Amino acid sequence: MTGPLSPPAVADGSASSVLATTRAELAAARARLSGPVVLVPTMGALHSGHRSLLQQASEIAGPSGSVVVSIFVNPRQFGPAEDLDRYPRTLDADLALCAGEGVALVFAPPVSEVYPAEPMVTVDPGPVGRILEGEFRPGFFGGVLTVVLKLFTLTRPDVAVFGQKDAQQLALVRQMSADFNLGVEVVAVPTFRDPDGLAASSRNRYLSADQRTVALTLPAALQAGQARAGDGPQAVLATARARLDAAPLAVDYLALVDAQTFAPAGPGFTGTALLLVAARVGSTRLIDNVIIGFGPDGPSSSAGE
Ligand code: PAJ
Repeated sequence: MTGPLSPPAVADGSASSVLATTRAELAAARARLSGPVVLVPTMGALHSGHRSLLQQASEIAGPSGSVVVSIFVNPRQFGPAEDLDRYPRTLDADLALCAGEGVALVFAPPVSEVYPAEPMVTVDPGPVGRILEGEFRPGFFGGVLTVVLKLFTLTRPDVAVFGQKDAQQLALVRQMSADFNLGVEVVAVPTFRDPDGLAASSRNRYLSADQRTVALTLPAALQAGQARAGDGPQAVLATARARLDAAPLAVDYLALVDAQTFAPAGPGFTGTALLLVAARVGSTRLIDNVIIGFGPDGPSSSAGE
């Protein structure tokens, strides 16, 4: 019998990832890793967006380093009316995907390993954690940052990889690592989109074919806004807003903000901005964003990010 800490070779010759489900197993497996350790925190139900993070992580780790993936549906970042119980859990498929991407170690703990007791001390995400996603999901970023801090201290990575898809989460994690001197370099990966333009998300599986068509309004509106960058921030916002208003969805917010500070990017703004949207299609809540550069020499934009 092969124990959980020694990866068996599988038929196609590739090794599977080591699976750790307790903090003790994680510590033992982590102690065996040498070279740069690159962490990819996830909630599982892995899709092509996650895969692009794993591939970027592998590149950063290089031949001498290791990629560690955490799979944990963190109860502390779900509100009482949110989808904690129906959040998809697909561990076997996730492990296969990780093995296929050469992930060295997967940490997939039960809730009791991460929270043996209700934490008395938690991370306060500060003012940026209370706007946009933070306004519509009170407590969300406190929950995210608390678990990410725990995952950092348990895994002790050199680098952690996060998706641009969750731009506000990425910015807050990066800020936490800097403010608390965690010594973890936070690397962003561009948003992975399905061929029709919809940003890959674990929640897309809840959309009917008709709802998916409606959901495509999000990337379409962002792109239409982005195309008006040369006419300034107000034109960008008005164009995106008009596209959203014409579709049968409930918009939580549409905002254009400074990509670093998340302060509103008003008239005359120069620098890198984010155009962010959150909307509900039926009972499925989706978010998306694009990066838009407003330069003194005219606009520049990163399509698809
Ligand atoms: P989860 O939603 O599973 O996402 C894990 C990581 O994958 C995040 O960094 C997210 O931004 C990234 N990601 C998701 N869809 C993506 C896409 N289409 N393109 C690029 N990256 C994508 O985000 C979380 O989990 C949690 O909040 C977590 C950070 C794990 C803390 O619990």
